[in-house]
Amino acid sequence: MGSPFKDNHPSNHSLAKKLIPWTFYAMLPLVLLRVYFYPYPPHQTTATILTASSVSPPPTLSEDETSCDYTDGKWVPDRRGPLYNGSTCGTIKEGQNCIAHGRPDMGYLYWRWKPKQCKLPRFEPNTFLQLLRNKHLAFVGDSMARNQLESLLCMLSSVSAPNLVYRDGEENKFRRWYFESHNFSISVYWSPFLVRGVEKSSTGLNHNELYLDHVDERWAADMNGIDMVVLSIGHWFLHPAVYHEGDRVLGCHYCPDLNHTEIGFYDILRKAIKTTLKALIDRKGHDDKGIDALVTTFSPAHFEGDWDKFGACSKTKPYEEGEKTLEGMDSEMRQVEVEEVEAAKMNSMQLVKFRLEALDVTKLSLMRPDGHPGPYMHPFPFANGVAERVQNDCVHWCLPGPVDTWNEILLEVMKKWDYESRREE
Ligand SMILES: *[C@@H]1O[C@H](CO)[C@@H](O)[C@H](O)[C@H]1NC(C)=O
Ligand SMILES: *[C@@H]1O[C@H](CO)[C@@H](O)[C@H](O)[C@H]1NC(C)=O
Ligand SMILES: *[C@@H]1O[C@H](CO)[C@@H](O)[C@H](O)[C@H]1NC(C)=O
Repeated sequence: MGSPFKDNHPSNHSLAKKLIPWTFYAMLPLVLLRVYFYPYPPHQTTATILTASSVSPPPTLSEDETSCDYTDGKWVPDRRGPLYNGSTCGTIKEGQNCIAHGRPDMGYLYWRWKPKQCKLPRFEPNTFLQLLRNKHLAFVGDSMARNQLESLLCMLSSVSAPNLVYRDGEENKFRRWYFESHNFSISVYWSPFLVRGVEKSSTGLNHNELYLDHVDERWAADMNGIDMVVLSIGHWFLHPAVYHEGDRVLGCHYCPDLNHTEIGFYDILRKAIKTTLKALIDRKGHDDKGIDALVTTFSPAHFEGDWDKFGACSKTKPYEEGEKTLEGMDSEMRQVEVEEVEAAKMNSMQLVKFRLEALDVTKLSLMRPDGHPGPYMHPFPFANGVAERVQNDCVHWCLPGPVDTWNEILLEVMKKWDYESRREE
């Protein structure tokens, strides 16, 4: 057929259904896209809590924990609450600092993800730092990568203070912190496609340009200095774009004014991840130091109706088991990512110094419609009463919030890797 809509499950995923999210995103005003998807100007204070890092024995795992499926579970109440709040940590982007912006309900902070077959331990900052002693961890991707990085920084800050040691001049797109206590560096690289891309904002055009067979060197050139990388992309692929491969234009997405074929974005996301993982394997899979890589899967948004209408994502509790199923675009995006990770794992099985895993957070995040800033992306949005029109962020996550769980799972993957490598010695 050659159409972008080739589909194995016609009943489930009709053309109309697929088009809805595209059109929806295409219609979001540009200004909002900026607010949503660009990093923010600097707002920095250094965390102040500092406790001596204790050297504890290497973490141990039960058999049950080495094989747990963390994706299958439910949210259960947890009285303990988060490890940090909006004022103990200085690195939360303002639009996600819901407590500081006056979000009145606190219930969303008191849930814990309970996998069906095992226990997901509470985040242990000391264990995390210990596993990455003398190492460099990089988050690479879009504003979801930043959201996850900031959650991690806040949790680590509860035991050891990081110093911001690098920040690029513009918009906080590239930053690096150093934990002296563990000689550990953590950084964030802005790269919303992972492959080479030209963002529409820098051209004045109405679409992005993607070069699918070239990894984005703005981060990839630093690969040698990185020990572990967390890749996190997705939402930028929904925007209007023209796709290049080699010397030719493959097609485009949502470009009615251009003479290119609409080819959607699922296969494009697939190509981008394939190119990226291949670059990691080719450049790092054979050297002594190697690299560990994780791909954070697609993070669902929870708009109900218009983005600028009061109550666009106003739930205050997680969905209950069975109340919401993973389907449509959220499911397709996740599936592309998981499949590409599995394919790359197959291609790199003989490599000792390359480890790869999907950080499969799509389902557990889908169940948290209560975790977004909503109107609290701006400070005290209702200070002058409730207006019918108010901007809502139902894409990113409040910090503290559900993203903290992503990092709990990240730590479990690291513990598993550590356990396996020590068993092999
Ligand atoms: C945040 O945590 C600090 C330290 O535990 C505490 O002093 C402060 O009152 C908390 N702030 C809020 C808004 O809960
Ligand atoms: C700190 O870590 C780097 C690698 O990230 C290593 O080259 C260096 O030797 C370490 N420094 C100390 C004092 O261990
Ligand atoms: C659009 O592309 C087709 C096929 O490549 C070509 O025949 C046609 O002339 C193009 N139209 C314009 C307006 O460029």
